[in-house]
Amino acid sequence: MTKIAPSILSADFSCLLEDIKKVEDGGADLLHIDVMDGHFVPNITIGPPVISCLKGKTNLPFDVHLMIENPERYIDEFAKAGADIITVHEEATVHLHRVLGYIKDKGMKAGVALNPSTPISSLEYVINDIYMVLIMSVNPGFGGQKFIPAMMEKIMDLKKMIRQKNADVLIEVDGGINEDNASDIAKAGADILVAGSAIYQSHCPAETIRKLKNNNI
Ligand code: DX5
Ligand code: ZN
Repeated sequence: MTKIAPSILSADFSCLLEDIKKVEDGGADLLHIDVMDGHFVPNITIGPPVISCLKGKTNLPFDVHLMIENPERYIDEFAKAGADIITVHEEATVHLHRVLGYIKDKGMKAGVALNPSTPISSLEYVINDIYMVLIMSVNPGFGGQKFIPAMMEKIMDLKKMIRQKNADVLIEVDGGINEDNASDIAKAGADILVAGSAIYQSHCPAETIRKLKNNNI
């Protein structure tokens, strides 16, 4: 079954832990944490201090999506803060292979995120070295945007590439996912669906998580 990773970007930061408990009790599989630096994307969010405050207060693994330039500078800090998976953007570093190795050396799982216009061919020579690929299905920076339809083909192409390369890699899709499109995205090949506004703006986050999962058969 497809896994669900609620994005806390759409949570109420004044009662963050409560909002995390809601999705944990509601059947979430991972906690998606969006880190933005105001350079790589035109928005600023949270960093290691907030993540380390949350560590130990929830059993959900921390799926940390770094939308920051030169992420290699901060891997140590995010490791100390308690990240389980660190995903860096292919577009944000010149030395992608080196950063991925560093993340793994620190005992974490490594992911690579691709902006909507970045071709999957950029992953050809690292695909066998990573835990997951994050396909951005909106331009990164904000929650609540619309899913870009062309990303459906990209997910299917990535699935093909993973099979051809015999790689053991998960596909995570992030941006504009809701109860209406979750099923098609999962059928295209997504293993993990990130959802922010669809979950946190719903009257019952637990029910939305259930629907996002059940849609995915
Ligand atoms: C966007 C972030 C997403 C965002 C998704 O840059 O990476 O994780 O929170 O939000 P929704 O589900 O509202 O599109
Ligand atoms: Zn994200």
